[in-house]
Amino acid sequence: MKIVSSNEMKMLDNKTIEKIGIDSLVLMERAGLMVVQILKKYFDDLSEKKIVVVCGKGNNGGDGLVVARELMNYTNDVLVILMDEFSTKESETNFKVYLNSGGKYVKFEKNNIELIERVIAESDIVVDAIFGIGLTKPVIGDYKTVIEVINRLSKFTVAVDIASGLSSNSGKIMGTSVKADLTVTFEFPKIGHFINSGKKLSGELEVVKIGIPKKIINENIFNKYVITSSLITIPKREVESNKGTYGKVIVIGGSKEFFGAPLLSTLGALRSGVGKAIICAPKTVVLNAINYEPGLIPCVIDDEYFSQKHVLQILSLEDEKTVYVLGPGIGRKKETKEFIDTFVNNTDKPIVVDADAIVLLSENRESIKGRENIVLTPHPGEFSQFLKLPLDEVKYNYELVKKIAKELKVIINLKDSTSIISDGDKIFFNICGNSSLSKGGSGDILSGLIAGFIAQGLTLLESTITASYVLGKAAELYRPEGRNFISEIVNLIPKVIEAILK
Ligand code: ACO
Repeated sequence: MKIVSSNEMKMLDNKTIEKIGIDSLVLMERAGLMVVQILKKYFDDLSEKKIVVVCGKGNNGGDGLVVARELMNYTNDVLVILMDEFSTKESETNFKVYLNSGGKYVKFEKNNIELIERVIAESDIVVDAIFGIGLTKPVIGDYKTVIEVINRLSKFTVAVDIASGLSSNSGKIMGTSVKADLTVTFEFPKIGHFINSGKKLSGELEVVKIGIPKKIINENIFNKYVITSSLITIPKREVESNKGTYGKVIVIGGSKEFFGAPLLSTLGALRSGVGKAIICAPKTVVLNAINYEPGLIPCVIDDEYFSQKHVLQILSLEDEKTVYVLGPGIGRKKETKEFIDTFVNNTDKPIVVDADAIVLLSENRESIKGRENIVLTPHPGEFSQFLKLPLDEVKYNYELVKKIAKELKVIINLKDSTSIISDGDKIFFNICGNSSLSKGGSGDILSGLIAGFIAQGLTLLESTITASYVLGKAAELYRPEGRNFISEIVNLIPKVIEAILK
């Protein structure tokens, strides 16, 4: 599914109006009607509901007026709260139409806050049509006051397009923001629905069509997508096959301190369907791993940490179908950094670089630049250390992910509650998953899954998108959310893959 920024959405609206000749009032009418259609889906009977529609001065307020007018056909109890004089011809026109239809309103004024509070307190549903994608600055003054009242009184709140105060491009709160139970957005989700505070403040998200013609959509290049099942590729199983058919993943990781990480990564690779999963780690780590899963192939290094002397030993296991995972639990010792630099320079096979290896590669970025067979899977902390930038500059920074992926010619998967994947051209947002993945080990499973899919013949980008989605769906299968061992999530992966293949 495509996802757009505020400018892209404005461009689609404007081209529809100017090039196709659909009047802006028609788009506004359709937007308002669709909001009411969705409300009818959520509430079987609106006739007993008291509904307050809070309208800003721009076209979002205009949408709100259409909502209010249409709702008057279902309930007698609709009241509009006007925040300001209307500033667009569309919202002005709809105000007249609302009044002509017998619509009632109160103006928000400093001296009538008590009245405003009372009508909101007595309502069942609040429609938030204060700001849409036109929000340009922090919310202060009367707007802040009314948003705080809406949140404090906590009625069922429906945001028109996006919760007022939420930036549609960053999902950051601009001063203050409505906390919606439901958001009805038009044509495409906006980036801000999914990142930073977006998921929390949007509530349920409904995407509705308002008649932007396909011609306009197809004429414009979109490079941002929400990952849905249509973007997923699962490698085929053959009737006639053996373990060599499905590739080999070698997970290089583990150290004196970290035992479990390389095991989880190799389990991720096995669950993807790979033919051979080799765990290459210090002896105690390998013994523990084999004890847990006898199907793993051991490669023991004769030390508690990796150093340059282990490079040749690992390379001797490499064949045509090898894909590496480098980093789970590997630690950050100076010798390990030397190992990583040398290793990366001595193999031309695909590598999924994870965890500490990302940080250790930071100064030696040139070694992966342009190879076109590297996937980096940082969480925000690792990405910030890799780029030597503050955390808040990298978190959810999808343009930065794209820029670095393009510069280095790598795939980047910036892990977070919405993960961001880019190949330097397109940007993909993975919104599935839940707090079951908010624990140590989930990233290790992901790196193994990605490598496993690459080893079975998917492209690096396909593998990363598929692995991120499959892991998210496995977390969603676990009930109750979050009360899981991370190893339980690995074991749900085959079920998710089976469901996708159905
Ligand atoms: N504090 C106070 N005012 C603010 C703040 C703030 N923090 N941020 C922005 N504003 C003001 C803007 O300056 C602007 O006012 P102005 O017109 O006086 O400059 C106003 O709020 C704009 O806010 P929005 O209503 O969010 O923006 P816009 O008018 O661009 O409408 C839209 C957004 C198109 C309604 C979109 O969110 C939407 O819902 N689309 C649905 C489809 C639709 O209705 N399309 C047709 C609309 S008509 C057309 O496109 C011309």
